[in-house]
Amino acid sequence: MYSEQCPIDEQRSITESVFLLSFTSRAIARTGRPGQFLHIRVRTGIDPLLRRPLSIHRIDPQTGQISLLFRVVGRGTRLLKDMRPGDPLDVMGPLGRGFDLSGNFSRALIVAGGMGGAPVFFLIDALLSLGKQVTLLWGVGDGREIFGTDEYVRKGVDVRVATEDGSLGHRGYVTELLDVFLKTHAQDQSFRGFVCGPECMLLPVQRFARKTVFSWQASLEERMACGVGVCQGCGVRIRNQAEYRMVCKDGPVFDLKEILFHD
Ligand SMILES: Cc1cc2nc3c(=O)[nH]c(=O)nc-3n(C[C@H](O)[C@H](O)[C@H](O)COP(=O)(O)OP(=O)(O)OC[C@H]3O[C@@H](n4cnc5c(N)ncnc54)[C@H](O)[C@@H]3O)c2cc1C
Ligand code: FES
Repeated sequence: MYSEQCPIDEQRSITESVFLLSFTSRAIARTGRPGQFLHIRVRTGIDPLLRRPLSIHRIDPQTGQISLLFRVVGRGTRLLKDMRPGDPLDVMGPLGRGFDLSGNFSRALIVAGGMGGAPVFFLIDALLSLGKQVTLLWGVGDGREIFGTDEYVRKGVDVRVATEDGSLGHRGYVTELLDVFLKTHAQDQSFRGFVCGPECMLLPVQRFARKTVFSWQASLEERMACGVGVCQGCGVRIRNQAEYRMVCKDGPVFDLKEILFHD
């Protein structure tokens, strides 16, 4: 794990509330794995005190450039979007345990909802480099938040999109795409499932996942403070485990079928 001040290379808007920020860190680029996150101080000084966790969106191993995809939801992300190229970004990471891509599977099914799309590009890059066949089901509210998929379609990824406003792809929820997909693939052991998104989406996906014969990994977005397992503030319950697991240290990726979501 590294703690570095990295000058921002680029900051660009995808929509008025979603931003893509990039910076260069050869050390983090060399060690970061899909599903891991970075803990970002959004301003120099101690206000706000807490860092904000953001998934590694993408890494360019040649240049060491790392990108983050984030939605402005509060003060921290608002400050982050106001940072400009050349500003020093205080980055701690890579943190957490990412996706497990080992073992025997040839096809990956990825379900992403909203900003759950953030860790997915890095995941697809890794899966393609391992020679896996990839299907991405990506759901968002507003179709303008879907970007960058053409590159993956060209690389052979089966991309299916759902938008709540109906501006792109299927009008409705990504879980409806999943329902259709699983009608023909639920019993296919060559798959491994991956899901990233808010808890309100993970819950229905978990219900579908439990009816499939293949394993699923979910990336959780619990609120965090320390980010390194010290404050015990990001606990999640896992079936058959007596103690809470910490999303920052033991996750953020867990076996989807075993997660006990909040009531
Ligand atoms: C491991 C991990 C990876 C993440 N990756 C990304 C990413 O790649 N892109 C991205 O846009 N966001 C990501 N998030 C969520 C992101 O960390 C929060 O949106 C951010 O910290 C909010 O900071 P803020 O100061 O802007 O908002 P705050 O002022 O802290 O909160 C504003 C609102 O957002 C809610 N909120 C804050 N943090 C979270 C959270 N972690 N989960 C759900 N709701 C939250 C609050 O309850 C409140 O309603 C990730 C979270 C985790 C734990
Ligand atoms: S955020 Fe402190 S233990 Fe996870």
